[in-house]
Amino acid sequence: MEQYPKHIGIIMDGNGRWATERNLPRMEGHKAGAKNLKRLLKHILKKDIPCVSIFAFSTENFRRSQEEVQALMTLFMNYFDKELSFLIKQNVRVCFSGRAKPLPEGVLKNMRKLEEMTKNNGPKTLNICINYGGQDELVDAVKAISEEVQAGQYAIEEIDRNTIEEHLYQKLPPLDFVIRTSGEQRISNFMLWQSAYAEYYFPKVYFPDFDEEAFDESLMVYQNRNRRYGGDNEKKNS
Ligand code: FPP
Repeated sequence: MEQYPKHIGIIMDGNGRWATERNLPRMEGHKAGAKNLKRLLKHILKKDIPCVSIFAFSTENFRRSQEEVQALMTLFMNYFDKELSFLIKQNVRVCFSGRAKPLPEGVLKNMRKLEEMTKNNGPKTLNICINYGGQDELVDAVKAISEEVQAGQYAIEEIDRNTIEEHLYQKLPPLDFVIRTSGEQRISNFMLWQSAYAEYYFPKVYFPDFDEEAFDESLMVYQNRNRRYGGDNEKKNS
């Protein structure tokens, strides 16, 4: 029987290079990436994979040119309003991870709307990381926990892994498999806590070309990995 990851993460990298190689403006790469994402999500939804997290925009991405950031924000605003509405019908819950500030109000409004419209959906979940950083997520969790300790809700000695998990942006299963397209072999601050035991895969293809077939190939790689969780019993995924 095929073993599917319960939670898969996708770092959608290479849009810019995809465009540059075609002598197109970088934004054309992001548009092609956005089109591919929709196709890919429809494909993934047909499989027994309950949770998908995607890295849409990191806190560091705000350092890009003002022109690119603004164009991306407009793309996100429209995408969350129109392009992801098929998820409502498909009973998928959409949630977001990241800090609200300094996302523009138009983007935040459509994020809240999509979250609200899908909040009773499930069990399939799409988690969109936007203005997200894995280290910041832990900083925010530590701050929230410290405030609760200070308010006398529990003692420092009672803090354990569950306490941290309960204070992350979203309650999600641990990541089993993380794919980063474009051949870069870095985690880039993506879901650090959740990926403690994740398998990683770095296909060379740029995100706009990471199609259904490339995704299925990645799944086969996952299914052939041995996951030991620090133990010595070899547990093959397939
Ligand atoms: C990575 O490529 C892409 C981004 C940082 C932008 C966001 C992703 C998309 C637009 C894909 C669709 C997602 C949504 C939610 C609509 P890059 O610009 O870092 O590429 P490069 O490394 O080749 O420059």
